[in-house]
Amino acid sequence: MFSSRILTITALLAATIAAGAQTAAQPPTTLKDAYKGAFYVGVAINTPQITGKDAAGDDVIVAQFNSVTPENALKWENILSKPGVYDFTLADKYVAFGEKHHMFIVGHNLVWHAQTPESVFQDEQGKPISRDALLQRLRDHIFTVVGRYKGRIQSWDVVNEALNDDGTLRKSKWEQIIGDDYILKAFEWVHEADPQVELNYNDYSLENPAKRAGAIALVKNLQAHGIPIAVVGNQAHVSLRSPTAEVEDQTVKELAATGVKVAITELDIDVLPEVSWGSADVNLRAARDPKLDPYPNGLPDAVQKELAQKYASLFEVYWKNRAVMSRVTLWGLSDADSWRNNWPVPGRTDDCLLWNRKLQPKPAFQAVIDVVKKAQ
Ligand code: G3I
Repeated sequence: MFSSRILTITALLAATIAAGAQTAAQPPTTLKDAYKGAFYVGVAINTPQITGKDAAGDDVIVAQFNSVTPENALKWENILSKPGVYDFTLADKYVAFGEKHHMFIVGHNLVWHAQTPESVFQDEQGKPISRDALLQRLRDHIFTVVGRYKGRIQSWDVVNEALNDDGTLRKSKWEQIIGDDYILKAFEWVHEADPQVELNYNDYSLENPAKRAGAIALVKNLQAHGIPIAVVGNQAHVSLRSPTAEVEDQTVKELAATGVKVAITELDIDVLPEVSWGSADVNLRAARDPKLDPYPNGLPDAVQKELAQKYASLFEVYWKNRAVMSRVTLWGLSDADSWRNNWPVPGRTDDCLLWNRKLQPKPAFQAVIDVVKKAQ
């Protein structure tokens, strides 16, 4: 009995030492742990993930990420069932999901040229409404939505994609009916509705110098009007080809020089032949063509490796600039979830994210974790 007790204690000790040694040597195995203290690592979540229908996906999301963005659930057309009538069923579930898992919750978005019902800009006869009437609708929308989640959503994409690629203001319905100051008004009202909430301007292709200059001018204009804009979101819908790490680094640094933090808000890396040439304009469409869809049965190893290297090179930039970075969010969990499978060509097989279609982590996942390991 005595010897068996010694054996048990010895075994326990050995196990404890082994576990200790393992813990000390064990590299982080989750994105949120790897980048802890540097910036949030987030993911855009879709309806099955918000509602719990994609239970396997939810397990990965909860284990790996500490921030969420709703891929569609908070956009105008998703919460306005008909003019003036809101349906917050899905949006409430989204916020509850983030709260349950103690995540940094992002609101996406309040003012955008897309996914906004035409009726928002029209009267009952279908005629365009006046500047004052549209301002009133915008104000009501902001106070309704931001007010509903006051203190629960931590960060709002107040205005999304207001710029053309040349840095000028997009002639959206908002701009045409209200004028350039719709941006200022939106920011003012969000700040009034929730003074604590982080205010973001969000856009794509800010790696393009002309567009970046437009974003910088927009931020400075808001600052000149006393708006405490906190973050510029660079969506980073990028490709294997571009931007280079150097350009990404310059983009982050120039945006941060305005005094705001930088968030990478919608990261994915296109591996397919490019049809969009760096744009993420949701209105772009191109016809199906087998030449544009070369990997329907899986990504060749060489491209898989290239993808991993590209992810690593971008995360190296974000890690190096961590003092000015607030968050890096991936635009979807697995390749099966990505909008890129249907844009700008419908029905392609893009492998642009960190988890594959079987929800297995890809080499790119480990490469992103290894960035921090190598830096320390
Ligand atoms: O929900 C309907 C469904 O009822 C209908 O049967 C189906 C048929 O087409 O459409 C479904 O809606 C689709 C929706 O995604 C939900 O899946 C829309 O057609 C489709 O256009 C919409 O696409 C979204 C796109 O924004 C719309 O503009 C993508 O999921 C979403 O990833 C994408 O996200 C944007 C960001 O908000 C802003 N930056 C660019 C980014 C990528 O385009």
